[in-house]
Amino acid sequence: METKNLLVEKSEHYAVVTINRPEKLNALNAATVTELYQVMKELQKDEAMRAVIITGSGEKAFVAGADIAEIAKHDEISGKIFAMRGQKVFRFIEKMRLPVIAAINGYALGGGCELAMACHLRIASSKAKFGQPEINLGLIPGYGGTQRLPRLIGRTQAMYLLLTGEMIDARKALEIGLVNEVVEPEKLMDRARELAKTLTEKAPIAVNYILDVVDQGLNLNLDMALNLEAEMFGNICATEDMKEGTAAFLEKRKPQFKGK
Ligand code: COA
Repeated sequence: METKNLLVEKSEHYAVVTINRPEKLNALNAATVTELYQVMKELQKDEAMRAVIITGSGEKAFVAGADIAEIAKHDEISGKIFAMRGQKVFRFIEKMRLPVIAAINGYALGGGCELAMACHLRIASSKAKFGQPEINLGLIPGYGGTQRLPRLIGRTQAMYLLLTGEMIDARKALEIGLVNEVVEPEKLMDRARELAKTLTEKAPIAVNYILDVVDQGLNLNLDMALNLEAEMFGNICATEDMKEGTAAFLEKRKPQFKGK
């Protein structure tokens, strides 16, 4: 697929998607959001793919937000459509069968922080900066920030970031549970690739079930969520990969998962 604002590089079992508008600090304009949706849908369909990394081009930014020049033109109706479009794409990413890793190489502000939060794992460069600065523009987040941020880091920390619009550094993001780990900038992509590769070696159906059960379960009460887990545990016991994984352990060898 031809893309103007994204670079897509596929390895054997994982892909690296790079938001590529460095002159605008990779701000997400409408065209980029559309391309991101198309690319992620294609990767989801590609049976060879087992993980995706999303990162930003250049040294300064992961994504510095939705494109403010476009937002400035919105009215009541188009503003709602704008938010719903971005939400749909980010929710698609969050519900993908493939684990998605955000490799956060610089500013992750507004829509950039929201994109990172829609990913399943987040690795940050020590130079990365996070924030939801919409309040400083007389706005509120529209791509899920008011909802995913409190779910990820708790209401107390989320309220502070949303109401002040303050930026935090990678160390603070790690401390409050916004990212999984922080690495030196030059090691970021190596670490993201290493993690992607680790995930590609896991049983794909089990990976898929974990993504799904965690996502669904967080929106259910505990009893319903546990029922769902038991149901899916039953389902996973019917897979060839479960037989292979347990047999390999008992035979003291490495499992060969087939995604069946
Ligand atoms: N939307 C559109 N353009 C953006 C952008 C955004 N979210 N963030 C940065 N840019 C553009 C700038 O307008 C500038 O373009 P220009 O060179 O044509 O003037 C270019 O990217 C470089 O940004 P600049 O502000 O000059 O870089 P800086 O190093 O001085 O500051 C930031 C970096 C991230 C602090 C600053 O760009 C910023 O505050 N961006 C907006 C963040 C934001 O509010 N995001 C939420 C949007 S809802």
